[in-house]
Amino acid sequence: MEGIPNYVFVRSLTASRWRPRISNTSLGFGERDQHNGADLLEGYGRLRIQMNKAFDIGVESLSASGRADNGGLERSPSVHTNHIVHSNKFDASGKTTVDCGVVSADVTAASRSFGDTANGGTFFLETFGCQMNDHDSEKVAGLLLSRGYRQVETPEAARMILYNTCSIREKAAQKVFSRLGEYRERGADKIIGVLGCVAQQEGQDIFKRAPWVSLVCGSASYRKLPEMLAELEAGNKRVTGLDNDTDETFETEITRRDNPWRAYLTIIEGCDKACAYCVVPHTRGPERSRGSESILREVRQLAELGYSEVQLLGQTVNSYVDPTARRMKFSELLLEVAQVAGIRRVRFTTSHPRDFGVDIVEAIDREPKLCDHIHLPVQSGSTKVLRAMARTYTREEYLEKIALIRSARRPISITTDIIVGFPGETDEDFAETLSMLDEAQYDGVFGFKYSPRPNTPSLALNDPISEEIKGQRLAMIQEKQRVIQTARNLAMLGQELDVFVSNKSRRENQWSGHTTSNRVISFSSQEKELLGSYVRVKVTDSGTGSLVGLEARD
Ligand code: 5AD
Ligand code: SF4
Repeated sequence: MEGIPNYVFVRSLTASRWRPRISNTSLGFGERDQHNGADLLEGYGRLRIQMNKAFDIGVESLSASGRADNGGLERSPSVHTNHIVHSNKFDASGKTTVDCGVVSADVTAASRSFGDTANGGTFFLETFGCQMNDHDSEKVAGLLLSRGYRQVETPEAARMILYNTCSIREKAAQKVFSRLGEYRERGADKIIGVLGCVAQQEGQDIFKRAPWVSLVCGSASYRKLPEMLAELEAGNKRVTGLDNDTDETFETEITRRDNPWRAYLTIIEGCDKACAYCVVPHTRGPERSRGSESILREVRQLAELGYSEVQLLGQTVNSYVDPTARRMKFSELLLEVAQVAGIRRVRFTTSHPRDFGVDIVEAIDREPKLCDHIHLPVQSGSTKVLRAMARTYTREEYLEKIALIRSARRPISITTDIIVGFPGETDEDFAETLSMLDEAQYDGVFGFKYSPRPNTPSLALNDPISEEIKGQRLAMIQEKQRVIQTARNLAMLGQELDVFVSNKSRRENQWSGHTTSNRVISFSSQEKELLGSYVRVKVTDSGTGSLVGLEARD
């Protein structure tokens, strides 16, 4: 297995980013095997394969023997086993990239047999909420693919429909029930599952509100999904996973990554902070960190697969505590992740102010691959409200963290979350939140109206703020931040920034991507293919939400 990733991901990309690394281009797709007549997919090393028909291979799992980078082709019989192949829609232009050690699979036979074991075989998965949910869905999809299911793009085409849900605010939770309502009549021949935070929060009640649902599973029970799927496949109509008191993390052998540019990686699950307004400790369970070795192994695999940017995820990512004997600190982990060959950018989110120490800033100063961006939710600028929210810091303590970040040798972008209209928030309290925007000079603010949530301590608080006032306060936050952000972006005119290109505009020669400070920048370039590459761009114009530039020429 030396040098070979133990899974292979085939993506629907033209993926120029890999072009420079192509070591061998002599393979085709859909070849007929001369010996047994089977359809074969074959690849070796890093290949770019042009496919000649609509086709998609989702995830490949390899038991692979053989060596990477010996410059030649090798067919290893053992690779024929343990394969998960799924055929699905594919880009009509027929281009894809195979990035792998050795892969060789009997496509037709594989899809047929997996279709049988997976009870009809197709699933549709829709995700609501945060990046943690997005990434959980990638892992759940990987798990289903490894059981032989195929992912489809519409609920109509699916035998199994899964919703990975969010309950952070009431509106998000309501959305799920309106989706479920659509299957009141036409859900009979489908398996419908609710995953994630609403599942955990509503539990068995979901079966009462929507009896056509068969699976209810909170994120802390995802480890047991294989058994739950087996029960569903056996025809069980009421399967639940609702424990949220676990010390285990959810790791999968295969992850079906949706974002071709930025690979997410959860390093800490759950939350122990108990903010008064927040459902997360209830829906995601207690904090549990993943072992540093396992994280680094995955980062190495991601780098092998061609990802150059990774984002480490956790509700309180900087509360990371390495459970292994290495006892790596979060800042040490950041530095090690940045050392992995092929990795050019490391991001992390969300940081909790209480656990934010100078070592993180020092690490960023030391290692340019650690991105110039910290998301540090303040929630309120009033110490009184912060106390009521149980945020565990005062306004002054928070501002000390901002000062730490501002003392770094390079400018670091800071973004935040703010809740307006928390019970008891007076005009004076709110004025302190507004002045926080002036003092902190954020590069981005996500503002929310307080939404009372089940099982949270703040439900018991008196003195609710009317929806009208919440709306007014939110608008004031947004207006103030608009002015601040416009000025901050304007100050970047003339600067040259490295941009990781992730989008090609319909307009000719127009591209966009992210700077290390996570700003979106669109720019023009005469290059034919830039997706997935890093380009130096000079800022020529700016707005509130984004920058405009020109590719810089030496
Ligand atoms: N009401 C409004 N906003 C909330 N958030 C968390 N819980 C609530 C709630 N009950 C916001 C916080 C958090 C972000 C992810 O969502 O600002 O940082
Ligand atoms: Fe919720 Fe607070 Fe934990 Fe963030 S730190 S997930 S706001 S309880």
